[in-house]
Amino acid sequence: MFFSKLALVTLAFTGISLAVPTSNTLEKRTARTSAPTGCLSVQADTTTSGWYQTVASAVASLSGTADACIFIYSGTYTEQIAIEYGGALTVYGYTTDTGSYKNNAVTITHTISSSAAGSLDASSTLQVKSSNFKMYNINVANGYGSSAQAVALTANGDQQGYYGCKFDGYQDTLYAKSGYQYYSNCYIAGATDYIFGDASAWFGGCTIASKAGGAITASSREVATDTSWFVIDDSTVTADTGVSLSQNVYLGRPWRVLARVIYQNSVLTGVVAPEGYTTMATDATPIYMEYNNSGDGADTSERVDFTATDSAVSKDTLWPAGYAWIDTSY
Ligand SMILES: *[C@@H]1O[C@H](CO)[C@@H](O)[C@H](O)[C@H]1NC(C)=O
Repeated sequence: MFFSKLALVTLAFTGISLAVPTSNTLEKRTARTSAPTGCLSVQADTTTSGWYQTVASAVASLSGTADACIFIYSGTYTEQIAIEYGGALTVYGYTTDTGSYKNNAVTITHTISSSAAGSLDASSTLQVKSSNFKMYNINVANGYGSSAQAVALTANGDQQGYYGCKFDGYQDTLYAKSGYQYYSNCYIAGATDYIFGDASAWFGGCTIASKAGGAITASSREVATDTSWFVIDDSTVTADTGVSLSQNVYLGRPWRVLARVIYQNSVLTGVVAPEGYTTMATDATPIYMEYNNSGDGADTSERVDFTATDSAVSKDTLWPAGYAWIDTSY
């Protein structure tokens, strides 16, 4: 394998303890400023033979199903990227702090609305259509701004993990479309329905930052047998930098009738409207839960469309088929 390992499995024999690395946990370092061994390198102005000037050209060079990785050097990459790779793929961005989005030095940005592009997916700056995908320390933006749907990331595959990433848009920033997905230590900004879709997605240690009044989540769960759920855990719901909001952000509205979302162990600041949720799909019976939140917006006494619960949702519940694919160092 091409990356370093953190987790060790201890094999105990009679009187002997032997440590061997496992492959599902990447080493968390304070900086990642050059390509890990074996990764393709992307640098906007590169003249190095074998390196790529665009992320899309590095992605296009991949074929087959072997584990692969791409490292992107600092810079702003104005391009649209669709990833459909048959093997496990990891994409890293240059950073001096792998544990957070705060020192990210790579931004991928593109500007087009859904109506101009033809669909939500086609408007995405980054569209990940394959499974077994990990991305670290990269900012992804759709610069369209207000007044139309315009997606930054469409995550449309199983076992996708996003670590220390930043997603920026306005309406429909993050399309968590389908499959098991893990977002850890990410910053997600927008104003309207900016976390939406039908994935079984866990948002852990994230900052969810509104740019204007409107709904954060728009789950498209539609049938009772659908196991999808948005679990927002140990996160903070607040206003985006430089924005002043008060009691006009909704935690969700149902894009489809059986929308399902829980906010748990999180800080809900005073941006949150006391009623918590608002309407969208006709005759919706959404399942909106909250557990053990704090902050000025955490009082549930005036919530509408609210389902009481006395426990948090666990990763085992969200992902019954297992989650050995997540990077547990986050
Ligand atoms: C409530 O949330 C806080 C913050 O995440 C956490 O430290 C605490 O353990 C949680 N309490 C319960 C009862 O789950």
